[in-house]
Amino acid sequence: TVLIIDFGSQVTQLIARRVRETGVYCEIVPFQSADEGFKRLNPKAIILSGSPASTLDIGSPRAPQVVFDSGLPVLGICYGQQTMCEQLGGKVEAGHHREFGRAFIEIGKDCALYDGLWTVGSRHQVWMSHGDRVTAIPEGFEVVATSPNAPFAFIANEAKKFYAVQFHPEVVHTPDGAKLLANFVHKVAGLKGDWSMAAYRDKAIAEIRKQVGDKRVICGLSGGVDSSVAALLIHEAVGDQLTCILVDHGLMRKNEAADVVAMFKAHYNLHLVHVDASDLFINALEGESDPEVKRKTIGRLFIDVFEAEAKKIGGAEFLAQGTLYPDVIESVSFTGGPSVTIKSHHNVGGLPARMNMQLVEPLRELFKDEVRVLGKELGLPDSFIGRHPFPGPGLAIRCPGGITREKLEILREADAIYLDEIRKAGLYDAIWQAFAVLLPVQTVGVMGDGRTYEFVCALRAVTSVDGMTADFYHYDMEFLGRAATRIINEVRGINRVVYDVTSKPPGTIEWE
Ligand code: XMP
Repeated sequence: TVLIIDFGSQVTQLIARRVRETGVYCEIVPFQSADEGFKRLNPKAIILSGSPASTLDIGSPRAPQVVFDSGLPVLGICYGQQTMCEQLGGKVEAGHHREFGRAFIEIGKDCALYDGLWTVGSRHQVWMSHGDRVTAIPEGFEVVATSPNAPFAFIANEAKKFYAVQFHPEVVHTPDGAKLLANFVHKVAGLKGDWSMAAYRDKAIAEIRKQVGDKRVICGLSGGVDSSVAALLIHEAVGDQLTCILVDHGLMRKNEAADVVAMFKAHYNLHLVHVDASDLFINALEGESDPEVKRKTIGRLFIDVFEAEAKKIGGAEFLAQGTLYPDVIESVSFTGGPSVTIKSHHNVGGLPARMNMQLVEPLRELFKDEVRVLGKELGLPDSFIGRHPFPGPGLAIRCPGGITREKLEILREADAIYLDEIRKAGLYDAIWQAFAVLLPVQTVGVMGDGRTYEFVCALRAVTSVDGMTADFYHYDMEFLGRAATRIINEVRGINRVVYDVTSKPPGTIEWE
């Protein structure tokens, strides 16, 4: 295990990503609990993250002394370099030239950290983001590389295996950064890259068995990747002690509920309760056009239905959730002095507390792409693993204006045709999310000899990494023409199709 001590940098998670990509397990621990984290994880190497703080500020965070006394390899990044220098007897000053963005370092000396990658005298692009800089290095350290604004851009004490860089190796703008981090864990720390999903699966199953014992678990299953993988893992661990509940709110895509039920029941023989609550949801939503009211109504009814079903099953003490690592990493915050705020978890609206249940969260150490690998490991078909995200409120927020059964049916058909065309064109995996929206606008058209007056369908497709920002997908017009023609020809109720070319920001991905 590699221990990453987080001083609050925006990109600490990327350090963890890069380390895990080398096949070595790591965990991020906030600096306030670094001592405890050190004892718990028994790490073989330590990385100190960057930070928005300045080591020159009174009370700014430091690494626990044990980090430097342990004899373990340590890599300090940006603020991590500065605090390492301060703590070992060097000096940091406020920089006259702040350095943000691309910079070039020049290598002056051999070093195990870049072994096999760089050579003395070469220059390399790195990403800098700092105001302060190191002005005197501690005893035993030597300069490995300099940049025009950072004479100590890269320093090392090879005897102690202490390395410190002013730049950020974890970001893609440092092209060789991932390889430097791989060198740190493999060559410097001597760790084997044998952390695999097969190993994770075994460990997770053992832990679930230990936690759950002979008690019962319930799990809300939506067909999304996270809940699907969590359910399969728990099923493998405790078999029929797990009951899954699929709440069909009538707002799912065409055939979706049936597909999910078929897969989990037939293929995995998993105990699954399929609740058709569509009348309840649609009756409550009918005619409602306020997006927030739609969302709240759906959220409230979902909890009511889930709770009622769970009571029918009776006596479940555990609730499974597909919480992921980014949701549980404690984020370091500096507002009002160093303090730790914990991001709110994906609790289904406070259900566990209401029902007095404990949580089982077998994915809480994984990133999204790791969940997909685990899904593959568990035999989940690619059609489930590579699925586009789908919002909890479903088609309700893709039907601006009042919802009716008829409109939902029209939308479902148009959406299915659109996605079918995307798959046929081989574009599904290149797009992050794609869907149809049914606008509450009717326009005049002409079909055959007749005049039509029907709804407008908007098509949406975006590329994104995490859904926080997105760019509209640049289709070629042939494709859009093909999809539009099919939708207009095959779906009664739509006579015009438009394409949404808004990015996020300023737009959101969904229309409501
Ligand atoms: P927006 O529209 O905010 O969406 O740009 C970003 C991503 O989040 C999804 N989304 C939701 N997912 N419950 C969910 O589980 C919701 O209420 C919800 N609203 C939006 C959206 O589909 C996109 O992937």
